[in-house]
Amino acid sequence: MLCVPNHVALIMDGNGRWAANYGLPRYEGHRRGASVVRKILRIAEKIGVKYVTLYAFSSENFSRPMDEVNFLMKLFEKSLRKYGKKFVKNGVRFRVIGDMSKLPALLQTTICEFSNDTKNFSRFNVTIAINYGARDEIVQAVRNICRDKNIDPDEIDWGFLQKYLYTADLPDPDLIIRTSGELRLSNFLLLQGAYSELFFTKTLWPDFWEREFREAIENYQHRERRMGA
Ligand code: FPP
Repeated sequence: MLCVPNHVALIMDGNGRWAANYGLPRYEGHRRGASVVRKILRIAEKIGVKYVTLYAFSSENFSRPMDEVNFLMKLFEKSLRKYGKKFVKNGVRFRVIGDMSKLPALLQTTICEFSNDTKNFSRFNVTIAINYGARDEIVQAVRNICRDKNIDPDEIDWGFLQKYLYTADLPDPDLIIRTSGELRLSNFLLLQGAYSELFFTKTLWPDFWEREFREAIENYQHRERRMGA
């Protein structure tokens, strides 16, 4: 039987171009992008994926115009409040990875509330990367290791380092999907994705629906994963 990836990570790209193609402002692309998130989570859960991680906002995205950043932060807050209630009701574990300290206070509160309310669930796991950057994650991990005075350097191996990453309690992604035709990882899960299968599609995120997601999964199912062996 062809196996379903346990953990799928998605780089949601192309909202701005989608909006421009329809002569709409960028925020309409983000709004439509948020509704696609809901569809993809539903289908992922249905086909048996256990972990979905979504790259919603990179650390670098803070350099976008203030209006766009503010719009996105409000959209995350509104969407999380809406999805969060469903997560609690349906037993879905919710997490955020990234540096939360720079996010608006209300968004931080919402994240904490739903992370806490769903912390005992494990059936289906949704993680949103907000203000996430893999290099920052590694820098933070090394700082925290150095702060821990009792560590013997010889103790440090990958298993040890892993516990200091934002993803400490998450499995590595089996499949990383990027939409919109860009062929790069853009500082997303660089260590965790060391052996992930990559799938790139020209489809813009707001058009990435069930058919496109299934196509990515089917493509993954025909890959031979040797994990370096
Ligand atoms: C990249 O497209 C997308 C983003 C920076 C934002 C992603 C946000 C969403 C999909 C909305 C909601 C998400 C959640 C988790 C509720 P872009 O703006 O870089 O597009 P472009 O490359 O075409 O300009």
